[in-house]
Amino acid sequence: MADKPRLLVAGNWKMNGSREESQALARELLDLVVAEGATECDMLVCPPAILIGSVGAIVRDTAIALGAQDCHADAAGAHTGDVSATMIADAGCAYVIVGHSERRADHGEDVALVRAKAEAALDAGLTPIICVGETLAERDAGRAVEVVLGQLAGSLPDAATADNMVLAYEPIWAIGTGRTPTGDDIAEIHDALRAELAGRISGAESMRILYGGSVKPDNAAEILAIQNVNGALVGGASLKAEDFWGICQSCA
Ligand code: PGA
Repeated sequence: MADKPRLLVAGNWKMNGSREESQALARELLDLVVAEGATECDMLVCPPAILIGSVGAIVRDTAIALGAQDCHADAAGAHTGDVSATMIADAGCAYVIVGHSERRADHGEDVALVRAKAEAALDAGLTPIICVGETLAERDAGRAVEVVLGQLAGSLPDAATADNMVLAYEPIWAIGTGRTPTGDDIAEIHDALRAELAGRISGAESMRILYGGSVKPDNAAEILAIQNVNGALVGGASLKAEDFWGICQSCA
């Protein structure tokens, strides 16, 4: 039986912050790590693409890893305004989020594109964090498990292993709303994802499956204690160093 993975707490800063603000946030986080010592989890911050360099200058060679929020599926070429996984790796990132529901909604990204992006990330030596999650209408119709398993099947690269990628379950209706599913609802989806992964890759137990959607310092301990939850993908609360740190401190 494979080992239970070390928890990962990832901050998705989305389209927020100036250069100065994001550097200050990274410095504050680092100060907390230095003052209070290592946490029981791996820590990751994902600034907007244009701020990766300036945040990277602060977190390089520290306990805080660096990631991007999206990448193009091609390694290079005529794609005005896009950033490739190769460039993201070259800028010092170890991770890239792909298939976030805001990308799916704002840019019409489908599972095939998400899969191509995850493949590009793997080719570039990055760890993709592949996001899945249902809408409220899908949940109310009793289709949440079916929807997320369909997204997983469509977006999982053939080259995926338990160690080279991360999965994130983010119910769309819980993102930025302050609403979270019940512990049982989270457990149901994470168990289903784990079982599906077990049929597709070896050692699936050691793949990290994060929960995301209104994770805060006051609900993190409960969520992170759920079987098959191996960390959190945090939006709003990752923009305040103390809140993000509080979530990291909730990792037992
Ligand atoms: P939230 O965002 O924590 O603000 O709900 C989570 C996410 O979108 O990754």
